[in-house]
Amino acid sequence: MIVTRPPLGWNSWNTFGKDINEQLIRDSADAMVSSGLAAKGYEYIVIDDCWSLLERDENGRLVADPEKFPSGMKALADYVHSKGLKFGMYSCAGTLTCAGYPGSFDHEFIDAATFAEWGVDFLKYDYCYHSDFIRGDRLYRRMGLALENCGRDILFSACSWGADETHKWIKTTGAHMWRSTGDIHDGWESVKKLILKQDEIIEYNGQGCFNDMDMLIVGMRGRGNVGFVGCTEEEYRTHMSIWAIMGSPLMIGCDIRGIEKDGETMNILGNEEMLRINQDSAYRQIYRVKGSGCGPDGRIYIRHLEGGDIAVAMLNMSDAERNITLMLDELALPESCGKSLRLREVWSGEEYGAKNATIRVAVPAHGCKLFRASLVDVK
Ligand code: GAL
Repeated sequence: MIVTRPPLGWNSWNTFGKDINEQLIRDSADAMVSSGLAAKGYEYIVIDDCWSLLERDENGRLVADPEKFPSGMKALADYVHSKGLKFGMYSCAGTLTCAGYPGSFDHEFIDAATFAEWGVDFLKYDYCYHSDFIRGDRLYRRMGLALENCGRDILFSACSWGADETHKWIKTTGAHMWRSTGDIHDGWESVKKLILKQDEIIEYNGQGCFNDMDMLIVGMRGRGNVGFVGCTEEEYRTHMSIWAIMGSPLMIGCDIRGIEKDGETMNILGNEEMLRINQDSAYRQIYRVKGSGCGPDGRIYIRHLEGGDIAVAMLNMSDAERNITLMLDELALPESCGKSLRLREVWSGEEYGAKNATIRVAVPAHGCKLFRASLVDVK
């Protein structure tokens, strides 16, 4: 199975934690379609941890908790499929999942077969309670092999939080996306921490094995399982802008039942220019340029897009507005080459141009300007 774009969807963990059940998943699938998010490309409905019984059955198989999922997983997968969506589940490379349910260690092939029978399309695979002797690369390769041999296309979403230098071995395992960070919480400090973590690993992003910066907190507003102090709309937009330009999978984490009534959240999750950058088919490596005015908490990220446009993110993580300046020279576009840039900011639609081969933008505190830039002739 080859996955060409960062997966888009919804996952139960950020809001619901262990409080999951069949009706919630059905309602969330309904909402994905009725809100219009499915039409924008969000297609996976993923059940995270806490879905099974504490014991396997007499044949060593995982059993869905009949109180939470009375119709069973096959029926639920069928329902999700009937909405035109894909169905995701969760397990773990250790003996137990992070919440203490049975993990897949030493049961990889039987579990992959069970997931295939149920009609699962996506498996998030965690790293708690893993063996001290068998390294992560082997544990993930084993499940990678089990999935590839289970007779069904199942997207393999590795979740080892960047531990044990995940970036160095994850592409050997068959994973289609890999969690590069610890868990997100619904607050600005958490978003900032996950962004800073990317400084060390930015070049390890890659087509077919996407760097997963963790599920989104947009729209949570301090509610739910990882709900914390919440973020401002500006901060949620910044979070989305950086996840988008980094090419991270975008897995919605808020409650999407009734989300169409929350215009601000819909605007952030559904912005088509932002999604077009995230889903760009070239999926080139992202890089940073220095610019000026950034200070220690500022970043300029660049991603060249299919067809010759360029995505630019100007990020200001400081507590005060900053004028950030990008010299076109830093993009190897000195005035002498006869080309300049015209930029369109994806959230506001504002247009910006260069003066003296520099682009100067006022970026608010905790803000990010995300641009799609096109080459134009210097007049
Ligand atoms: C963590 C993981 C979270 C969530 C949780 C479930 O390890 O990073 O995203 O899946 O386990 O227990």
